[in-house]
Amino acid sequence: MANRYVDERPIKSNLTARANKIKLNMVLSSTMIDLVPIALALFLGLALFFRLLHFFFAEKGPTPTDLPKGSMGWPFLGETLGFLKPHKSNSLGSFLQEHCSRYGSVFRSHLFGSPTIVSCDPELNTFILQNEQKLFQSSYPKPVRDILGKLSMMLVSGDLHKKLRSIAVSFINTTKSTPDYLLYVEKYSISAMESWKGRQQVSFLKEAKEFTLYLMLKTWLDIEPEDPPALKILEDFLTFMKGFVSLPLNVPGTPYAKAVKARARIASTLREILKEREKSKVGSSKSGVLDEILQKGNLSDEERVSVVMDLVLAGYETTSGLLSLVVYFLGQSPYVHQKLKEEHLALRRRKGEGEPLNWEDYKQMEFTSNVICESLRCGNLVKFLHRKALQDVKFKDYLIPAGWQVLPVFTASHLDPSIHENPSEFNPWRWTDPAMNRKVTPFGGGLRLCPGVELAKVETAFFLHHFVLNYR
Ligand code: HEM
Repeated sequence: MANRYVDERPIKSNLTARANKIKLNMVLSSTMIDLVPIALALFLGLALFFRLLHFFFAEKGPTPTDLPKGSMGWPFLGETLGFLKPHKSNSLGSFLQEHCSRYGSVFRSHLFGSPTIVSCDPELNTFILQNEQKLFQSSYPKPVRDILGKLSMMLVSGDLHKKLRSIAVSFINTTKSTPDYLLYVEKYSISAMESWKGRQQVSFLKEAKEFTLYLMLKTWLDIEPEDPPALKILEDFLTFMKGFVSLPLNVPGTPYAKAVKARARIASTLREILKEREKSKVGSSKSGVLDEILQKGNLSDEERVSVVMDLVLAGYETTSGLLSLVVYFLGQSPYVHQKLKEEHLALRRRKGEGEPLNWEDYKQMEFTSNVICESLRCGNLVKFLHRKALQDVKFKDYLIPAGWQVLPVFTASHLDPSIHENPSEFNPWRWTDPAMNRKVTPFGGGLRLCPGVELAKVETAFFLHHFVLNYR
């Protein structure tokens, strides 16, 4: 490169030296001209780099003293990768542990593309949930919104949320304690367990997913597990869930792109099913609770499909996850397993041969309920929620700026040693203290408190009844 710019021959005479000087000057000035675009590009690049650094690292709006302490991480990515690093469900994970010990239980960060306040403070978490739609609002990153659909209850607010939620609540409350529904919970539990006989190995989570999905399809839409739509929906749900928790890259072939398509297929299958039921119902008495409630709600076709999607989506992964967690913890705690079995043996003795379980039996399963609650505390199915501050919010000494993302992290309070004695221990007996219900919030709270709490619990309790009586 050097000899392109500088003449390296020895200088023989003044003349040649002068000529060389002129030549050198010319070479240098042409070099300068060549370098201008490079220098300009370098300058612009550096300017952009420092602008980005400023954008991500500089404090915006409020002064640093107003904001919780923290770090905004790398340009673009912020600290998202660290935050999402996999860790055991019954642990806080290294990211939260390090950040809480360095900055305190409320800190600022940059996550999922937005400046964020992360709260591991139980008081602030309750405050956030109780002020939904006043100071905070449910707000999910774009890839999640795209995959859930614009009418999803999790995403909408105000009157539309009220309307869709009231349909979901009314449906769940009507269904959860009916003898028909409870009979199917038992029937499907027994048939799942019978299918395990003679098998060397059972993949429990897969079985639990099939159990919860088929139960919903049968009791809500009258679709049998062996009917073609059931298999299609199951397959699409598996693709959907795989993509839901993957890198949100909407490029053909990626799990995320496949999930977006699977969601569209589920919606269209459900639309067809609802339409068919509407047609066959005319002039017949064969209409289910779901049809009746959907009719009363004065919903558009799109809203009806969205409510059913929400219910199936919200109920499918969570309840099957809960069943798997309980069975996992029972496997680690033979004494708890024994006590649980005793409760169900005593219950069985009070009932007639083959007599089905009912809502009162469920209400009497006290220890079972404690086992379920403790599995939710230790297992942390839903680790955190997505919210956005609607205005500047002052809480204790912290300022949460308007427009910032806010993440209340439940895992932190579920595993906090200042709240729970020996928090990593699976101990259902701690639930004999009624105050535990206020200290543990696996189902969220406020306006968006999960409407499926009892549905998830009764399904799990009845499944466990047959499980502990038949399996070691
Ligand atoms: C172990 C089981 C479950 C857990 C841990 C769970 C957890 C949650 C949580 C934390 C929320 C609040 C979301 C937020 O505030 O943004 C929620 C909302 C919701 N859940 Fe559940 N859930 C479970 C089971 C179910 C079941 C069985 C159903 C219905 C079949 C259901 C239906 C819903 C619906 C429709 C919402 C949205 C409520 C709204 O935005 O107003 N969930 N769930």
